[in-house]
Amino acid sequence: MRKILVTGALGQIGSELTMLLRKEYGNDNVIASSRRYKEGHDKLMESGVFEILDVTDGKQISEIVRKHKINTIIHLAAVLSAVGEANPQQAWNINMNGLYNVLEVAREEGCSVFTPSSIAAFGDSTPKDKTPQDTIQRPNTIYGVTKVAGELLCDYYFHKYGVDTRGVRFPGLISYETLPGGGTTDYAVHIYYEALKSKRYTCFIAKGTKMDMMYMPDALKAIVQLMEADPAKLKHRNAFNVTAMSFDPEEIAASIRKYIPEFELDYDVDPVRQAIAESWPNSLDDSAAREEWGWSPDYDLDSMTKDMLEKLKVKLGL
Ligand code: SER
Repeated sequence: MRKILVTGALGQIGSELTMLLRKEYGNDNVIASSRRYKEGHDKLMESGVFEILDVTDGKQISEIVRKHKINTIIHLAAVLSAVGEANPQQAWNINMNGLYNVLEVAREEGCSVFTPSSIAAFGDSTPKDKTPQDTIQRPNTIYGVTKVAGELLCDYYFHKYGVDTRGVRFPGLISYETLPGGGTTDYAVHIYYEALKSKRYTCFIAKGTKMDMMYMPDALKAIVQLMEADPAKLKHRNAFNVTAMSFDPEEIAASIRKYIPEFELDYDVDPVRQAIAESWPNSLDDSAAREEWGWSPDYDLDSMTKDMLEKLKVKLGL
């Protein structure tokens, strides 16, 4: 029986993943944690245990893992790309020391670990189209540096200590439950909110800039599928390319116009996030994930747009 600890449980992925895991593994078997309590998570708070946990404090992780007899850690607490560039020292501390502490506790207590990597683990010298699973990884953001180092560290703990570490390289994630916390791909979430609220959006990423993206239900499916995959079939572990779609701002706007024809898009490009976006792939090759654990997404751009707009309309009371 799995006893799961989720770090960063109030973030964009964690807030939805925790609820799904509680449904699948039982409310008592999924402990949510976050550095601080945030408003607006009543459902999550009421459905099971919540612990305040700062992942830069290894002792705290160890105490919570022992207290709840945790055997699986889903480590989501991290600083994203744009926020990372504003404070690289903090990004290194939370992303690297946080992961190191989680892996050390996992080694001592015999836990398995899932932690996401990102398209940010690639850089300017990586092939941009159909980016292979195994390729050049020389990112130039602190977020990307921590993601590559994290992939290597997770593989190291598997080979050296037998810790069952697994991960995926997530593209930009689009969801309606909790906003992303300061990434480069966030425009693809904000655009839906603004399309419904004001029928126009000013985009901080330039026309023609393609990035990989995925709808949250597919991201959650990827985590659970990989966590439950037969280890004998995994040739890779940290971390698998996964993707669902690739688009630029004009293409997502065109998809929105199928439902909101008067929607207008203009641009006020942020040079920091634009440079980050340009250093990332246009589209990933996810064939290793498909072959080794049966990955395949359910949503494309139009089916995501339809669902996002329906769900957000209800959420925003429109
Ligand atoms: N969505 C993330 C970001 O933009 C990528 O992992 O930072």
